[in-house]
Amino acid sequence: MTSLAASPLRITVAQTGDCFDCTPHESLLTGMLRLGRKGIPVGCVNGGCGVCKVRILEGTVQPLGPISRAHVSQVEEAQGYTLACRVAPLEPVHLEVTPLLRKPFLLRRTAPPTVATA
Ligand code: FES
Repeated sequence: MTSLAASPLRITVAQTGDCFDCTPHESLLTGMLRLGRKGIPVGCVNGGCGVCKVRILEGTVQPLGPISRAHVSQVEEAQGYTLACRVAPLEPVHLEVTPLLRKPFLLRRTAPPTVATA
């Protein structure tokens, strides 16, 4: 018999379309790494570097520990920003990688530049 509380929840990254399943008992980043998926930048995986900062667009998450104000201000937290390595999903989550770090991770999805020939 399977517990509903442990059922995997679908996590989707808005900019890349990457998705993976995550349980309510693990962080968003841990769930992504466990499945070998990509989409959220990975750093220390312990709340110390801020590289995994995301904004929750849809869905609810719960903190797994303190979230450093050095990386997420109170105002940002009220706007949905958090650290993917410090929160677990309570329902399916649609998130975006923070604008500061979004560009390098989107470059892998763009076509190579074309060279004009005369
Ligand atoms: S990976 Fe460093 S704070 Fe999340």
